[in-house]
Amino acid sequence: MAEFDIYLKEIAGAPPKGTVLCRLRDIEDGRAREFTFGDAKAPFYMFVQRRGAQVFAYENACPHMYAPLNLKEGVFTEKSGRYFLCNFHGALFEVETGKCVAAPCAGRSLRSVAVTLEGGNVVVL
Ligand code: FES
Repeated sequence: MAEFDIYLKEIAGAPPKGTVLCRLRDIEDGRAREFTFGDAKAPFYMFVQRRGAQVFAYENACPHMYAPLNLKEGVFTEKSGRYFLCNFHGALFEVETGKCVAAPCAGRSLRSVAVTLEGGNVVVL
């Protein structure tokens, strides 16, 4: 588990351990798939970014103002694919770590969601 992994059981609306999110092949390489859990009172927004056979999952909330990062469904990275881009004020986050490397929240991080691949499925740890 990474340093910034969310302890999902402590967050209302978050998916429980063992939740199958989707199949890896359901995510286009270089794109992300978004998920919403919980209800209107306690929604939990997250996304899973695919890079080849790897996946990286984060809460969809920028640490600057807690806005969603993306404007277009499934598109979270800038052109190079190395960084997630927050479309509100331009923060850049490393895909592998979620750490902000540029703009208003430099040094802070997206909250990662621990996931793994099991039999071709993306599963919450
Ligand atoms: S809300 Fe993301 S950079 Fe401001």
